[in-house]
Amino acid sequence: MLTRSPNSSLRLGILLSGRGSNFLAIADSIRAGRLPGVEIAVVISNVAEAPALKAAQGLGLPAAVCVSKGRPRAEHDVDMIACLQSHHVDLVCLAGYMRLLSPNFIAAFRNRILNIHPSLLPAFPGLEAQEQAFAYGVKIAGCTVHFVDEELDHGPIVVQRAIAILDSDTPESLNRRILAEEHLAYTEAIRLVSSREYEFRGRRYLKRDS
Ligand code: GAR
Repeated sequence: MLTRSPNSSLRLGILLSGRGSNFLAIADSIRAGRLPGVEIAVVISNVAEAPALKAAQGLGLPAAVCVSKGRPRAEHDVDMIACLQSHHVDLVCLAGYMRLLSPNFIAAFRNRILNIHPSLLPAFPGLEAQEQAFAYGVKIAGCTVHFVDEELDHGPIVVQRAIAILDSDTPESLNRRILAEEHLAYTEAIRLVSSREYEFRGRRYLKRDS
């Protein structure tokens, strides 16, 4: 659980592998004052060529590369954990980080890792969730921000946003429309977590009784 003191800011560690539009949406929410008391402590990519790295540097944010290709997961994650800890990260936000985390990583940040997934979980876990939803023919799609546990796309849900799939949709248009919801959902989820007003009741993440 988050244990920061009420007056200290919540330091995010953003993990990504590519484009980084969710990271940029979070950065924009912070800049616009939609996430008071939240700051980005570091952006880490496991892919050296990730376009998001340049964007992070352009915003004056600490950015690091920790290449994962060809390295055993557990060994790579030791370096990721060290980098996050050296930046005093409170909450890890996976934003298009396309690599599974080792059990050690999850234990090091237990209940302090969020992930965004482009489907209404538990439907369509795994890769290309939007394409899975389109091909299946569901009428409602969306995205989920959830805590990360040892199972893929499985931990307690913080926020979901749903959209209707239109007859006129293509996989590309659906992808675009879900992504727009993701950008709203991630800010909403970080706001809930940073409020410290929510607690786990089993799998459910609920507002604490006042
Ligand atoms: C997003 O659609 C995110 O939900 C997805 O990767 C994309 C990253 O985009 N993540 C997963 O599918 C994880 N299972 P971005 O780099 O522009 O934020």
